[in-house]
Amino acid sequence: MSNLFAVSNLAKNFGGLAVTNDVSLSMEPGDRLALIGPNGAGKTTFINLVTGNLAPDGGRVMLGGEDVTRLKPAERVRRGLVRSFQVTRLFHDMTPEEHVALAVLQRDGHAGRMFGHYSSRAAVMKEVGSLLDQLGLLALRHLKVREIAYGQQRLLEIAMAMALKPKVLLLDEPAAGVPQSETERIEAALASLPANLAILMIDHDMDLVFRFAKRVVVLAAGTVIFDGLPTDVTQDSRVREAYLGSYADAGRVA
Ligand SMILES: Nc1ncnc2c1ncn2[C@@H]1O[C@H](COP(=O)(O)OP(=O)(O)O)[C@@H](O)[C@H]1O
Ligand SMILES: [Mg+2]
Repeated sequence: MSNLFAVSNLAKNFGGLAVTNDVSLSMEPGDRLALIGPNGAGKTTFINLVTGNLAPDGGRVMLGGEDVTRLKPAERVRRGLVRSFQVTRLFHDMTPEEHVALAVLQRDGHAGRMFGHYSSRAAVMKEVGSLLDQLGLLALRHLKVREIAYGQQRLLEIAMAMALKPKVLLLDEPAAGVPQSETERIEAALASLPANLAILMIDHDMDLVFRFAKRVVVLAAGTVIFDGLPTDVTQDSRVREAYLGSYADAGRVA
């Protein structure tokens, strides 16, 4: 049986520097994986390569047994490989409801044509309502994005990603920039996602990582130096070494 998601020997150089160095990693339905590593380790680049936002210099990306390495990002999304971005990409004058509706319509291939008419489409709006409800955003659905808290904006991005019906969800620092008082909501939202969805999350908050992840992969200078259980990661000597200088205490790795 093939893996749901399998990356093998992925490679990317920027100006002679190996930012992704022979990275292999696979995931199964239901996985909860945290990808961590010092700043500049190549975490975001890994996601960009996997989703097709960047072209790799070598290696392969397989999804559901199909080679998607050369497919455009939208074609991968259609097959269930969906990401969120490290920095929010929302329209400040649009509402959460409009954002999620657009994501649903985009998924179904209606984006341009249906815009302006979607509210008459009961099935779409029902799905939009249920996604907003799942992420705890239903009461805010008619506010403008600029009027809702940053943590709620990050939740909206997860709602939009979920609207694309992912099988594999890649979250690039979903709690980045979110005040401590709001990270609980993000955690609760992550916990509420379907059990069979495979999730890879990059984050710097190790408390969040340890509560979320059943498996941790550590990248350092583009290379996977650890792939194993959260309970083992802080004991690993290579991981400790990679964080020396950026974090004196390996208990604070990110
Ligand atoms: N488009 C690019 N062109 C050149 N260098 C890049 C580009 N994107 C990222 N890098 C470099 O690649 C390295 C890894 O970056 P990144 O993947 O963003 O790391 P992380 O997400 O782990 O902090 C960094 O040294 C960064 O400066
Ligand atoms: Mg990054």
